[in-house]
Amino acid sequence: MKNNNILLIGFMGVGKGTIGRALVKNSTYFAIDTDDLIESIENKRIKKIFEEEGEAYFRALEKKCAFWCEKNLHNTIISTGGGFYKQENIKNIGTIVYLQSSFEKIIEALENAPDSKKKFKKRPLLKDLEVAKKIYETRVQEYGKVADIIVNVEDWNIKRIVSEILIQIK
Ligand code: S3P
Repeated sequence: MKNNNILLIGFMGVGKGTIGRALVKNSTYFAIDTDDLIESIENKRIKKIFEEEGEAYFRALEKKCAFWCEKNLHNTIISTGGGFYKQENIKNIGTIVYLQSSFEKIIEALENAPDSKKKFKKRPLLKDLEVAKKIYETRVQEYGKVADIIVNVEDWNIKRIVSEILIQIK
């Protein structure tokens, strides 16, 4: 059975954390981020985990995190890492909201952010934009397939995005 959580999925940098925090301000939900949980149990940044332990180790932590979320979370907005949508139990965790944007718009927004350098640096899979584009292309269909709700976020109008999610979730 599905828990009453909201999962935000989508590509790196699409704004899952930002939208999660905005949703908290407009509802009775609380919010967490799977990457933050993983960093906390490892006491290490994601970038360091990738460098020192490798991607497979990180994916195993995501899996552990997904099972913990299913068992323990209710009434929670869960912002997920861009690859978390692959978890086999994701549908049991909650309603899945896919934040959709073209690759170009995501990169443009990251490049124009005041802390742009930091945003790129912390994401090992954004190091090479050609590789990142390929990852985007394979994932874009899969995000759509796993989602219960799809919200286009290209205009970065947080107020509109939040109200659209809250209306659709009812
Ligand atoms: C990843 C996305 C990252 C983080 C890790 C891997 C991915 O999270 O989980 O670097 O595979 O797309 P964000 O989507 O928050 O950048």
